[in-house]
Amino acid sequence: MKILALESSCDETAAAIVEDGRKVLSSVVASQVEEHKLYGGVVPEIASRRHCEAVVPVTKKALEDAGLQLSDVDAVAVTYAPGLIGALLVGVNFAKGLAMASHKPLVPVHHLRSHVAANYITSPELKPPFLGLVVSGGHTHIVQVKDYTDITVLGQTRDDAAGEAFDKAARAMGMPYPGGIELDKTAEGGNENAYSLPHPHVDGSPYDFSFSGLKTAVINVIHNAEQRGETLPVKDLAASYRKAVVDCLERNFVKAASDTDSTKLVIAGGVSANRLLRRRMESICQEHGWQFYRPELSLCGDNAAMVGSQAYYEFLAGHIAGPDLNARPEMPMQENSIS
Ligand code: KG4
Ligand code: ZN
Repeated sequence: MKILALESSCDETAAAIVEDGRKVLSSVVASQVEEHKLYGGVVPEIASRRHCEAVVPVTKKALEDAGLQLSDVDAVAVTYAPGLIGALLVGVNFAKGLAMASHKPLVPVHHLRSHVAANYITSPELKPPFLGLVVSGGHTHIVQVKDYTDITVLGQTRDDAAGEAFDKAARAMGMPYPGGIELDKTAEGGNENAYSLPHPHVDGSPYDFSFSGLKTAVINVIHNAEQRGETLPVKDLAASYRKAVVDCLERNFVKAASDTDSTKLVIAGGVSANRLLRRRMESICQEHGWQFYRPELSLCGDNAAMVGSQAYYEFLAGHIAGPDLNARPEMPMQENSIS
């Protein structure tokens, strides 16, 4: 089954064609990041306008690259939640039009579920059940993936998401948006024990996260140095901060794995590209004899191939939308609102 998938939840307009959930026939991503860099973050109105401009050429290219016509695909899939509402609406309305005009089923896909599904493409042998850590710019979740569309959220962030915490600290260190990537690069080879930073816990909720105190602590270090006219060793500060964020992610994820007797651990989302997180999870899983999965780097950030992968399993579960499909800025990952 060939699915034409669309993604427009944030600042990437993407289209892909995926066969049977695992085989990517084409994948096209048009990023707006250079424009948003000028403003230090995503400007929602600009994002929506750029999606409007890009959605048709990106979709045409995905079909061309796969050597297919719209009539050759079996379904149209689209990210409908969560994300920037104006951005999501572009993809949702375009996908509705395509599906209606071509008489194909329309499959709505949850953005975070699709991040998890990036692993099905990278590791064709991976099947639920497994324990997932979904870390993106807007979300940080520990999830039990019992089946492809049967998901329980065990924990999540109470304030900033991991990606947001990286981006905000990076910005304070003078790095351009989205700073998480730059901070990760800068941290390589730095002294991660140079600064002792807090590792916040959420009392009574061992699988929940809180990053705002840690972020504030590093921003204070930067401001104090500025006030004293000192030059900070940015590499060491980046390394210490990255270590603290990854320590928190690893601590809760490993506890959840032990408590739930999980032996298969999967990371997903933009932050799953983080070098330290990947190294740490690799070695801790080896120590425990757990299987570890992570998406290839090109599938960590937003793309439509992952949407096409998850869409296949949503379709098999009967999750098909009608012409009244709407976008949603927030939506719990466990919810199957369409069936
Ligand atoms: O999943 P994603 O592409 O978009 C959302 O759904 O939010 O995640 C983007 C986030 C940004 O905060 C970005 O800075 C972060 O992922 N990110 C990283 C790395 N690569 C991307 N954070 C830390 N280390 C990285 N290597
Ligand atoms: Zn994302």
